[in-house]
Amino acid sequence: MPERRNARRPSGSGTAPAVRLRRLRRSAGLRDWVAETGVEVRRLVYPVFVRPGSGPPEPVPSLPGIPRYAVADVPGLARELESEGLRSVLLFGVARTKDAEGTDASAHDGVVPEAVRAFKRAAPGLVVATDVCLCAYTTHGHCGVVRDGAVVNDASCERLGEVAVAHAESGADVVAPSAMMDGQVARIRAALDAAGHEGTGILSYASKHASAFYGPFRDAEGSTPSFGDRRSYQMDFRNAREALNEMDQDVREGADLLMVKPALTSLDLLARARERFLLPLAAYHVSGEYAMLKAAVAAGVVEERPAVEETLTAIRRAGADLIVTYFARDVARWSAEGP
Ligand code: PBG
Repeated sequence: MPERRNARRPSGSGTAPAVRLRRLRRSAGLRDWVAETGVEVRRLVYPVFVRPGSGPPEPVPSLPGIPRYAVADVPGLARELESEGLRSVLLFGVARTKDAEGTDASAHDGVVPEAVRAFKRAAPGLVVATDVCLCAYTTHGHCGVVRDGAVVNDASCERLGEVAVAHAESGADVVAPSAMMDGQVARIRAALDAAGHEGTGILSYASKHASAFYGPFRDAEGSTPSFGDRRSYQMDFRNAREALNEMDQDVREGADLLMVKPALTSLDLLARARERFLLPLAAYHVSGEYAMLKAAVAAGVVEERPAVEETLTAIRRAGADLIVTYFARDVARWSAEGP
């Protein structure tokens, strides 16, 4: 009884010739009508590097098109981003001074708090998130406090709490801890609440692999470690269950959003996290992934717009609600230009 067998099949799984999947691919209108995902501009988060001092935006050779801005340039930039249709930024600061504990990271007059205030004044509607880490502010370039040559966990969490409070005080909507210390989300939540910032959200870099794709970012930030590497705190890229465990922990510690990075090497994790967690999920398409595509475009190997759209759509399809990407302004421009 073929009818009965068909009835038990999930819909859409009949056979040709009755089923012809090409029917819905016959025109752009039909294809758009049934498209399952897309890269909406509202889902994109634009990373912004802010540096001390004045002067024009400083190019970073390994990160083409993404300069370091002086705080004085922030109001103009904020208004431009808003007029381009972008909805959110993730701020990174270049240190004024470095020391062993990364003191400048939690200074209330540091570049990030100054930039947050400037963003909020110039474009109050933009969502402002700030990266919470120590690596750009420490002389050794590690993401936490170093004692006897090792990155110590709990003292680092304490410092990250202070950094988060300084950012919240300046008006950040969301703080984004990226140091991969155990318990950092809980510690930051407690520090924010104690300082009266129970409304400030935490976007946790929950699953962050020790990766070869952070190089251009470290050039922009001046945050390459002076000894060793980050593998005693960032995750081993061979592990997926551990990544889910990291996310589980951060949910229980009070994270409001979870982030996975790098994006393209974590598509499996995004898909699994989408099934498992109810919180909004972000993916960070990191500096090396961006620079790699830019280099391929410059070499004439791929065409920029279709290659970027395909890449970011795959990240969405895997399960990301939000994508942090250096291509955010390009996508906004293309979407204004039309298909
Ligand atoms: C800080 C931090 C890093 C990135 C985001 N936050 C660098 C690192 O861990 O070395 C990388 C982002 C990118 O490559 O675009 N800990």
